[in-house]
Amino acid sequence: MDGYVLTHKIPTHKDFLDTADFDQSEMLDIINTAMIVRDFIKSGGYLNAMFHKSLAMIFEQKSTRTRVSFEVAMEQLGGHALNLAPGAIQLGKHETIEDTAKVLGRMCDMLMSRVDRHESIEALAKYSAVPVINGMSDRVHPTQGVGDMITIFDHWPAGKNPQDVKVVFVGDATQVCNTLCEMTTKMGMNFVHYGPEGHKISDEWLNIGQRNVSQYGGSCMWSDDPKCLEGADFIYTDVWYGLYDKETPKEVYMAEFYPKYQVNDELMTATVNPNCKFMHCLPASRNEEVTDSVLDGPNSVAFDEAENRLTAQRGLVLYFGKVAQLTLDYIKQQKEGK
Ligand code: CP
Repeated sequence: MDGYVLTHKIPTHKDFLDTADFDQSEMLDIINTAMIVRDFIKSGGYLNAMFHKSLAMIFEQKSTRTRVSFEVAMEQLGGHALNLAPGAIQLGKHETIEDTAKVLGRMCDMLMSRVDRHESIEALAKYSAVPVINGMSDRVHPTQGVGDMITIFDHWPAGKNPQDVKVVFVGDATQVCNTLCEMTTKMGMNFVHYGPEGHKISDEWLNIGQRNVSQYGGSCMWSDDPKCLEGADFIYTDVWYGLYDKETPKEVYMAEFYPKYQVNDELMTATVNPNCKFMHCLPASRNEEVTDSVLDGPNSVAFDEAENRLTAQRGLVLYFGKVAQLTLDYIKQQKEGK
């Protein structure tokens, strides 16, 4: 992929709030940038494209992967990230999200935030003069989606076209499920949400998936029939509860999902594909939505997926920082020894 030329030299949107805002070519620009930069850094290359640039990271909830991957990405690219953890800034009791966005937009070059409600990330984007990246809302998890797609490309079933690749999300229709539906269908694959009817992916997201299918091929559906697992190339799951305070109690979730939707050896066997990979956005509630045997098993790519959060964030900050093409050209020159 030496000498990759972006289809969109500058982003069509200032902000990265939802993968659904971008077409396939633009998402591939971000993914390819991320993968080329990963290879360059892994081979010992150094980049300084974000020199003197600051990323403010506002968290309304806890995070391990999102927080660390953005901070490391900025450091590796010569910039800096500020961890504004819950309760660390005036946001909330003493200052509105609008004023916070205006102030941080005057001091920092980019904002990233994990918010309780999607409306909050939209407000940050509206009132900030600089790009805003959604580090997860109650609606979508777009940075996870970029890392997930990179992981799927890394573990692509040999010889298959996108229209022959099947991705099954098992369990609760979380924001990770929504984004996976959007991204896989945008890449022309077959997406299935396998879960109980009371927790099925919304018609809105099925329609977004169908719209992608009509443009790019593949398919998009929900099912509670275990037969839908047959032929899966990737099984993906997320936690059943614990994402938010004051939500439905654990016992209620367990009764609805366990044992039918637990990803265990039996469920993986039901794919009838010994090469089927297992994915999880993490953190996992071990031996609830997934057994140790699957998460730690030979077909699990969940920890590659975690590492690819870092891969994705480097691509995202370069792309929305409008220095992606510059960076790709620099990498090409370095490889050519210029
Ligand atoms: N998958 C994910 O977003 O992990 P964190 O909550 O640790 O950021």
